[in-house]
Amino acid sequence: MGKSSKDKRDVYYRLAKEEGWRARSAFKLLQINEDYNIFEGVKKVVDLCAAPGSWSQVLSRKLRGDNEDTNNVKIVAVDLQAMAPIPGVIQIQGDITKTSTADEIIGHFEGEQADLVVCDGAPDVTGLHDIDEYIQAQLLLAALNITTHVLKSGGTFVAKIFRGKDVSLLYSQLKIFFPNVSVFKPRSSRNSSIEAFVVCSGYSPPDGYTPNMSNPLLDHKYDLDYNNLTGPNRVIVPFLACGDLSGFDSDKTYPLQLPGRDYEYHAPTQSPIDPPYKEACQLRKTDKLAKPEKQIKTSSDTDNNTYIETETDDPTEGACGQISVLDSAVGQLKISDKR
Ligand SMILES: C[S@@+](CC[C@H](N)C(=O)[O-])C[C@H]1O[C@@H](n2cnc3c(N)ncnc32)[C@H](O)[C@@H]1O
Repeated sequence: MGKSSKDKRDVYYRLAKEEGWRARSAFKLLQINEDYNIFEGVKKVVDLCAAPGSWSQVLSRKLRGDNEDTNNVKIVAVDLQAMAPIPGVIQIQGDITKTSTADEIIGHFEGEQADLVVCDGAPDVTGLHDIDEYIQAQLLLAALNITTHVLKSGGTFVAKIFRGKDVSLLYSQLKIFFPNVSVFKPRSSRNSSIEAFVVCSGYSPPDGYTPNMSNPLLDHKYDLDYNNLTGPNRVIVPFLACGDLSGFDSDKTYPLQLPGRDYEYHAPTQSPIDPPYKEACQLRKTDKLAKPEKQIKTSSDTDNNTYIETETDDPTEGACGQISVLDSAVGQLKISDKR
């Protein structure tokens, strides 16, 4: 039996553990490669937004494999989060939108260039779609700026995008640097998600283009006129679903029994080593996580303010509690200390 509901539902999650990948995302890169052969002849790669590291694992296995001679192979992986080590992968912990991180990445490519840059960057989604899409686009553009510093002429750039309403502007900007831009939806990426991947090949920046980390890609010229390109100015990029269509559909639930053998639960290949929610887990273990407040008394005054007296279960607040004042005129909740 599976331990978590994700284990029961998601076949790619289970398969990732079977095959030793740190995340199910590994299958997205593998399926993109099945259609595009992006690893052919590749020795030097940058993996942006790489944690927990399943794309770096794929790169390490594909580029280093069982080869004795791995001297020419270079894989540089970057993420905000710390990542457990992976054989042959140089790791940088940093924010890819910061020049200092970009400089550190570029520093690893002094005198040489990358054949491939991949970016699976995604923000912590807020649920406010415009903001999520905007931040995701900014990650993509930071990745593109870094790419212009390190990618060899003719090289390939693969990056996650959110197919939101501004996506045609992103395609136009990618087309400035790459003659071939396609959008792929791997079979392991859920249909319910607006995620897809751009595969851009044949890197050739415009004549005289000087790589520069503060390029105002997307930002400054962004307005409705630019966003509504028409006629020959409108870039239509091919959209393809990729991955073996006889393979698993990531939106379906499959029985736990895999063909030919019984399924057994496996723990995740690599637990996050320093996740942002670590402190919350620690607090929960010691029963110190904030609990919902209990409402104990409501009253009103002559100015029509409603007073809600509450008491929390949090032992650090003792029995003092707080008084919340609901100002009915402006509908604001004011908090004041009872003492
Ligand atoms: C979907 S995960 C990447 C999964 C990874 N490709 C793998 O296969 O394990 C998205 C990652 O983007 C990273 N990220 C988000 N914003 C970032 C930023 N500004 N700089 C660096 N990494 C960032 C997150 O920390 C997260 O680890």
